[in-house]
Amino acid sequence: MNMHSTFRILRFDPKKDKKPYFQEYRHQPKPKDSILEALKDIRNEQDPSLAFRYSCREAVCGSCGMVINGQIDLACRIQVESLQSDLIVVEPLPNLEIQKDLFVDMEPFWAAYREIQPYLQPEGDVPEKGHRVEEKKMEKVFQYITCVLCACCYSSCPVASRDGRYLGPAALAKLFRFISDPRDSRPYAALKKVDSPAGAWGCDTVFRCNVVCPKSVRPADGIEGLRRKLVAEKTKRIFKRKP
Ligand code: FES
Repeated sequence: MNMHSTFRILRFDPKKDKKPYFQEYRHQPKPKDSILEALKDIRNEQDPSLAFRYSCREAVCGSCGMVINGQIDLACRIQVESLQSDLIVVEPLPNLEIQKDLFVDMEPFWAAYREIQPYLQPEGDVPEKGHRVEEKKMEKVFQYITCVLCACCYSSCPVASRDGRYLGPAALAKLFRFISDPRDSRPYAALKKVDSPAGAWGCDTVFRCNVVCPKSVRPADGIEGLRRKLVAEKTKRIFKRKP
């Protein structure tokens, strides 16, 4: 691309601005530049006050989620020329408070993630050769392991936007990942904890999370899986007369 593009970027510094506003920059991206590279160049060459988050630049760390021409994605994953537009509008992730410009407060997302205890909880001591599991048995959970915790799903979720108590797609799908892992032996209480509108039953099943995930994870499938497990477990308990 040898043309200049207009980058219309949402700016907001809660310490001095009354409300967010758009600022435009003219910039000529190099061929194959990603949106992230373009933002870095704009910051380095035109405006050092522009704030955004990034680290790996390879769609691995999950820190550069934002809205690019109306689509939620990772800025390092999208090439400027792929947008086929000389106007590029960049906004911060929705559903999370802006700390500055494109930099949002991820704490509600992390709080939900901590809530589900996102680590393997095996029973007993660790065997000498570690906890082994057949590859076939892991097929169901592989997709959830590739989640990079970018919060793109959380930001696209209509339930998270209206209900701050909702744990959101990433956390719930991750719980399904651990509950479905043959090495995990967390108690029924862990599943029971999401038996509520703030958990597995809160999802509106509009599947936006599946659509926006930059790693092709399908978090809504995980939520459906949790629902199935809840129903199966509750039915079993009725017959066994367990609470
Ligand atoms: S910078 Fe790591 S995912 Fe984009």
